Amino acid sequence: GKVRAPTHIISTISDDRGEEPCYAGVPMSSIVEQGLGVGDVISLLWFKRSLPRYCAKFIEICIMLCADHGPCVSGAHNSIVTARAGKDLVSSLVSGLLTIGPRFGGAIDDAARYFKDAYDRGLTPYEFVEGMKKKGVRVPGIGHRIKRGDNRDKRVELLQRFARSNFPSVKYMEYAVQVETYTLSKANNLVMNVDGAIGSLFLDLLAGSGMFTKQEIDEIVEIGYLNGLFVLARSIGLIGHTFDQKRLKQPLYRHPWEDVLYTK
Ligand code: ACO
Ligand code: LMR
Repeated sequence: GKVRAPTHIISTISDDRGEEPCYAGVPMSSIVEQGLGVGDVISLLWFKRSLPRYCAKFIEICIMLCADHGPCVSGAHNSIVTARAGKDLVSSLVSGLLTIGPRFGGAIDDAARYFKDAYDRGLTPYEFVEGMKKKGVRVPGIGHRIKRGDNRDKRVELLQRFARSNFPSVKYMEYAVQVETYTLSKANNLVMNVDGAIGSLFLDLLAGSGMFTKQEIDEIVEIGYLNGLFVLARSIGLIGHTFDQKRLKQPLYRHPWEDVLYTK
């Protein structure tokens, strides 16, 4: 028989050897002819399967809603400062991306992990939140620098509204809403943020679509796929901010002395 040399790389998501590239076995021409969108491409390349239309649409809504949040947030600020230092597009983009993490945009996976664990273990919101407090861990997906109980995040509302009318079940989302009701009773700044909304709703998408086994869901949550949604989405805005600064021919940024507390 044939003797095959051992390979150095294993790859399972795409193949460019044929007449046209395939994503998870689906040829490019079929993607275009079916009129599929970026949500479907993410389904193929990240989850290795075609997901129902409402799932792909939900992914697209996440991408659109997280694409930008103005020039003042960590990521945009870094990209703006880097572009103004005369650096190229990729440097400006990654400088912004590097701020994505547990405080900013990168709390989606942890929100999914903690909400899933608490819901699956049957913890009441009180037990969950107070348990986190005892451990000294902030509840991922809760809290925002400018959003408040009386000035909620519109993005959260839009995602939840879409899921309520399109998902077969929103049990994790409802649990996250109950957690938010409890945290808001403690302090007005402890609203559900967009990371918490995506984290809880993606659990509903994974569990309710019937497209994933329990083991696959655990693996997706454990590996941490979901921050990828924010990284991908916000890249759109960070690239925009970089072009904006270059178009405006903005000079090197220097932070004003008056805005620094010099102290010993
Ligand atoms: N869980 C428990 N307590 C919290 C939480 C939380 N998630 N968030 C804020 N608090 C408490 C703090 O302990 C603090 O109380 P203290 O002064 O008694 O210690 C108080 O609220 C601080 O409130 P703020 O000044 O409004 O918030 P801060 O600027 O410190 O933090 C942040 C904002 C980073 C978003 C915070 O809420 C947090 O860490 N949340 C969890 C991580 C998260 O979800 N990040 C994603 C945000 S959305 C996005 O970036 C797209
Ligand atoms: C964002 O999407 O960047 C924000 O939610 C963070 C912020 O502080 O506005």
